[in-house]
Parts: sequence; C-alpha cells; structure tokens
Amino acid sequence: MIRERIEELRRLLDYHNHKYYVENAPEISDFEFDTLMHELQRLEAEHPEYTDPNSPSVRVGSDLCAEFRTVRHRYAMLSLGNTYSLEELHEFLDRIEREAGPTDYVCELKFDGTAISLTYERGQLVQALTRGDGVEGDDVTANVRTIRSVPLRLRGEGWPALFEIRGEILMPYASFDRLNAEREANGEPLFANPRNAAAGTLKQQASAVVARRGLDCTLYQLAGDNLPFTTHWESLAKAREWGFKVSEHMRICHDTAQIDEFIAYWDEARRQLPFPTDGVVIKVNDFAVRRQLGFTAKAPKWAVAYKFKAEQALTRLESISFQVGRTGAVTPVANLEPVLLAGTTVRRATLHNAEQMALLDIRPGDMVYVEKGGEIIPKITGVELARRPADSLPFRYIDRCPECGTPLVRYEGEAKHYCPNQSGCRPQIIGRMLHFIRRKAMDIEGLGEETVELLYDNGLVHDISDLYDLRAEQLAPLPRLGEKSADNIIRSVERSKTVPFQRVLFGLGIRFVGETTAKYLAEHFRSLDAVMKATREELTEADEVGGRIADAIIEYFAEDENLQIIRRLRDAGVKFEAEARELASESLAGKSFVISGKFSNHSRDELKELIEIHGGRNLAAVSANVDYIVAGENMGPAKLKKAEKLGVKIISEEDFIAMIGSDEIPAANAAEKRTEGSAEGGAAHKDAAEPKLF
Ligand code: IVH
Repeated sequence: MIRERIEELRRLLDYHNHKYYVENAPEISDFEFDTLMHELQRLEAEHPEYTDPNSPSVRVGSDLCAEFRTVRHRYAMLSLGNTYSLEELHEFLDRIEREAGPTDYVCELKFDGTAISLTYERGQLVQALTRGDGVEGDDVTANVRTIRSVPLRLRGEGWPALFEIRGEILMPYASFDRLNAEREANGEPLFANPRNAAAGTLKQQASAVVARRGLDCTLYQLAGDNLPFTTHWESLAKAREWGFKVSEHMRICHDTAQIDEFIAYWDEARRQLPFPTDGVVIKVNDFAVRRQLGFTAKAPKWAVAYKFKAEQALTRLESISFQVGRTGAVTPVANLEPVLLAGTTVRRATLHNAEQMALLDIRPGDMVYVEKGGEIIPKITGVELARRPADSLPFRYIDRCPECGTPLVRYEGEAKHYCPNQSGCRPQIIGRMLHFIRRKAMDIEGLGEETVELLYDNGLVHDISDLYDLRAEQLAPLPRLGEKSADNIIRSVERSKTVPFQRVLFGLGIRFVGETTAKYLAEHFRSLDAVMKATREELTEADEVGGRIADAIIEYFAEDENLQIIRRLRDAGVKFEAEARELASESLAGKSFVISGKFSNHSRDELKELIEIHGGRNLAAVSANVDYIVAGENMGPAKLKKAEKLGVKIISEEDFIAMIGSDEIPAANAAEKRTEGSAEGGAAHKDAAEPKLF
C-alpha cells in the first residue's frame, strides 16, 4: 500500500514538475505541489527500503560534499566550428553541398551556458558529465539531479535502452540577477555573466546550493548506437515527448536564404528571451549525410555556430569616480556621455580595477568602446586612440580613499584596492549597518538606507552595536521619523535579539562569510566563542570553509574594535549560541571522538552532529583524551601514526553507526533537510576505450 502511494506520488510529482519546468504550464498551485512533496518526503523517510535516487524528492539536493570523479565520455564531446561572418558561413554551407549535394539544415539557438551530457539507461537518468576536455568530463550527477527541467525518469515510450543526450545548463537572467544581488549584499564576488554563474554553480560541492540557484537545462543533441531516427529533427521531437526540454525556437531550412533569415530574426529577437544566447547553430538534418561528412579532429563537419557580435557603442568617458563598498573594496566607475546600447541608455560602466585600467591606458576625455556582451554591467573594452585629445595625460589611479582620505592598500592575490579605515570611513560603516539589519540577517524593520545615514550623521550610531542603545526619544525628533516610526524601530531592534545565531554570524559582515557559510559555521561550531577560539585548521573543518574564508574570520576577530562590538552585542543579549540540540540518546556519554578523512554515507558535520546528539564530545586533534577516531578515506598519515602511538581506537563509519544504532537526526536539529544525493549515480561505462564519435 505504502509502496503504491510512494509510486503514485512520484508519478504525480514528475508530471507536475514537467508541466511547470519544461512546459511552463503549471496545473496545480505551489501549495498543492508542496503538500504532495511533503507527503512523499515523509513516506520516504519512514520507509528507506523504497529509496530511489531518481525520486522527485532528490531535487532538493544534499549537503554532502561530492568530490567530482572524472569519467570518460562514451561519445567524445567535440566543440563546434564557429564564425562571426555570414560570408564564412555561406562558404561552409557551399562545401557541404559540394560534398553531399543539396540537403536540409536545422537552425537552433546557440545557448550560452555550460555543456552537459546526460546518460539514460532504461529510461532513468544515470549520469551527468561536464564536457571537460571533450574526452573526459566531471561527474556532476548529484548536482544535475536538482535541476527541475532535467527528467529523472523518461515519459512515453520508444527510448533506446541506453543513450546520451547533450545540451546546455543555463542560468536564466532572473536567477542570475537574484544570485548576484545576494552575493553583492554578502560582500561575495559577483559572477560576471550567467554562463560563468551556471558553470560555477554546477561545480558547487553541495547540491543543496545548486538546487536553490534556479538552473535550467535545454537539450539539443542525441548520441547513441543505432538511434532509431533518420533525422535530427525527428530525434529532438521524440526527445521532447520523452520529457526533455527541447527548444521550440528551431526551424528546418532548405537553403541559405532561410538560414540567413533565421539568423537575422534571432539576432534581434533573442533580446526578449529570458536566458542568454550567443548565436545560432546550423546543423545538417539528415543523419546519413552527417555520416558521409564526418568529423575533423576537433569538430563535426556537419555543423557550425554563427556567433552574434556583442553590441558595442562608442562614447566619451567624461570622468572616473570611485565607489567604496562595505568591505572597503574600491571600484572605479566610468561616467559616460549617455549612449544607446542594446535597447538601454548606458551612463556608467565598470572599470574593474587599477590593473584593468592600466592595461587599456584609459584616460578621462577618451572615446571608449562600451560593450554589453554576456555581462549585465556594461564594460569598456577599448579606447579609440585616434580620437584621443592631444593634451591627454595618463590617468593616475588614486592612492587614497575618495571618502575618508586614508591611504589605500592591496591584499595579496586581490586585484582591488581597499580602504583599511573600517571604523572611520562613512560608506563602509553605513554599508555594514545596512548589511546587519537586512532581512536575512537581523531583520530590523523601519531602518532603510536613508534612516541609517540620518542616524549616523546625527551621531546616534557609529557601529552595529550602537543600535541596541538607541532610545525612542532620540529617534522621534529626527526628520521624517516621528514617534510611531521611532517605536517601530526600537521594537524591531528588540526583536532582533531572538534571531538565530547563524543569522547573527552572517550579519557581522565578516569578509567572504555569506549566508551559507555562516550557516555551516554555526552548525559546526554552535557558538561564537567556539568560532573565535578555532584555529585556521579547525575553521576549515566546517563545510564549505576554505583557507581564504578561515583567514578572513581570524582577521576579523583579531581586531580590537570588532571584539568591542561583539562584547556590546553580547551584553545587549544578541544570540551568540545555536539552539540546544535534542538528544537522541546518551550512549556516547563520556566518550570523545575525532573525525578524520572523507566518508561515503555521511558528511563530516553529520557525523559530528550524531556524536553530540548521542552525548559524545567532538575533539579536533588526536590526543590521549580521545577515545575513538572515526576514520574515513584519506585519513592523514600523521594522525594515524599518532593514534597508533597513543593507542586510540580507530573505527570505520559503519562501526560508528553500529555503535549508536541509528543515524537518524531528530528533525528539530536539522536546519535544512539533508537528503542522500550520491555522486555515484550508477557508473554505467567504465571502459577506457576511445570515446566514439556520433
Ligand atoms: S551542438 C558536436 N547545439 O556550443 C556538436 N551546441 O561552441 C555538439 N551549444 O560545446 C554541439 N547551443 O556547449 C549544439 N543548439 C546547440 C548549442 C550548442 C549551445 C554549445 C555547446 C558546444 C558549444 C560549441
């Protein structure tokens, strides 16, 4: 009975996923969808015997860190010849006709994302590989499973028992804008364009992060032995029936004129598409003709990409100004004579950093080329030297902060200059406060940018801890405020004392500590004191924390001023500790553990959590106080030697789970549901033979 219900829910959810993500025609509300999903998740949790890696519930991803295996492609993933000129395109088509006679072509959009190859076995997704070097790619199956438009199980019938389908993982503009806005607010580096964002996201280690980023996947090419089709068009029509997202924007063209028409149309119309494209791909339709034409060493002779030129405009660089962000990073900005580019008037463009500017030898008064390629923020790509004014002088980059006059510094490995005057530089102070009060941090209402500026300029706040000393009678007399707003603000500040620790940690605005990192740090260390005490090595033991983030954390807590702020926040009653965990048992009471190496079934943090909820204690280093080392793969040899010397017991992941009886974590303890999302999604092809061409 249960099994049938699980199957039914999976079928229903697959169906509605397809309606929503592939056909853009949802039939039920989000609420109804979520209700079905919750029921499925509950039943799957209660009945692990019915686990299925392709269940629609896996779309939420996992926090497990997947190391990407490199896997050989069964069929080589070649690149595509490309051209920016219609003339060259016509020559290419002429060559085909000379060799094979008149033939039909399929024109498609060239999607600007990152290539993916999906393998289906008996209608089930078993593997997703990146292009890699064309011969071997990275196994990103766990991440791809979270992309809703990728069918995990095929619909309809007639699919070959084993085949591959290739396409592009895309980040729609809407997801891209949302992601970058979040990153900007977190002080994290922005993605330059949706292509980089898609590729970067696909290589994310935690598939739960991938699941949240709104990727999409469009398929455009089948590969397999003896595919049951004679034309490309037919194969894509079938792929659509099987549930794949295949673009509707394609056409069979009988001659060059029709191809030119398709290109001319999409060169304009692509601006209305919700995702990025950078050209048109022209492919021979007939598989027999394709076979006749064959391949060069790098690319098929039966297909070519015509690439659209990025739109450019020439305009005058009126002046250069500098923006200082909340982290002190200085960004040079070009102020331009307004110019129309790709449908919008451009007045400003980023100049990135001093090096970029020196490279272009850019000077105020120059006529400059502005481009809006894949990038959202227009950029300057060159200077028209022939039109440079005779009296122009090389531009000297600033060496002092434009806001507070402090000498700027450069950090190793960073292209940007920074103003180090954290505590005295207005935009940094105001930026930090705005970050602290934002919804995803302390969620203090009633304080917008203008009000924070007002409070700062009136000497009422100087750093985030001052917020907790504010009194309504200080606020009420300020312009645009009044008693009601003042009361609101005070109430909201008061309420922020109940905000969970992970959001407080995020709100502190430590460089590179975004929302997700803060969550992992809070889960791992459980209190601010523990974070502050942690060594660099211990910090990097938390998920997603690397050396760069660890250094930034250490740097933050080394500043006296920050310690003062922390002290005052603590006195005010802000939460510096995670909620106590619900204990599952006391079976490990009095026992101390060290976790070392990589594990196949649990993340390190999950194991640590299991230790704590069974009453045990986690220790970072091997010493005589340690009772057990839970050893995974690649446990450091130094640790091993020390453990042996001290006679500490070394146990496996399985031994450990056997010791506690069950690896269930009470729901109250899990900040986010963790679902199994193995990267080992059915390794179908291990043969090392040369990949085939198709
Ligand atoms: S066909 C052997 N069709 O462009 C030919 N590729 O520059 C296989 N791309 O690696 C590719 N849209 O990632 C094909 N409609 C489309 C495409 C497309 C984008 C990408 C693909 C390829 C790259 C070549």
